[in-house]
Amino acid sequence: MKHIILIGFMGCGKTTLGNELARALEWAFVDTDELVVQEAGRSVNDIFAEEGEAGFRQRESRALESLTRQGRPCVISAGGGLPIQPQNHRLLEQLGTVIYLQAPAQTLEQRLRGDTKRPLLQGADLGHRIRSMMEEREPIYQEVADLIVQTEGKDFGELIGEIKKRAEILDLQ
Ligand code: S3P
Repeated sequence: MKHIILIGFMGCGKTTLGNELARALEWAFVDTDELVVQEAGRSVNDIFAEEGEAGFRQRESRALESLTRQGRPCVISAGGGLPIQPQNHRLLEQLGTVIYLQAPAQTLEQRLRGDTKRPLLQGADLGHRIRSMMEEREPIYQEVADLIVQTEGKDFGELIGEIKKRAEILDLQ
């Protein structure tokens, strides 16, 4: 099944843009964090507190795997750490077209300031934490992606137009 999978750092707009893109394509929208939370019956914060990051990653991989059995095309928003786990690479490839939504660290920092729902960003110097995590993740996001879309300064309409056009040119859809 050719799904579209949006990847990128926390706060890059995967969920918001994913919803808009799904509406424009008349496809379903799925968020891997939502799947994990529904299956666990607990919040992301509670899963991290009780099972650690390792427990969350296992649940996240299971949620991704469950999407290989999804019969209709979906726009999938993948949690920011999902593409970093090597065990998920084969699944991402199998699921469809992977689009990396790239955003500058400064913009992410502005959006994520005051956030309480992302356990990996709590209690640290936010700017420093984002930059060091991005340094580790950026090359992996780029490697896993079929398309890289720069989001800075573009509205949803422009981004959706760009994604549709570039996906068509590459014959990805
Ligand atoms: C994480 C990103 C979050 C969520 C969890 C861990 C990460 O999803 O999966 O807090 O490691 O980057 P979003 O990218 O949707 O915020």
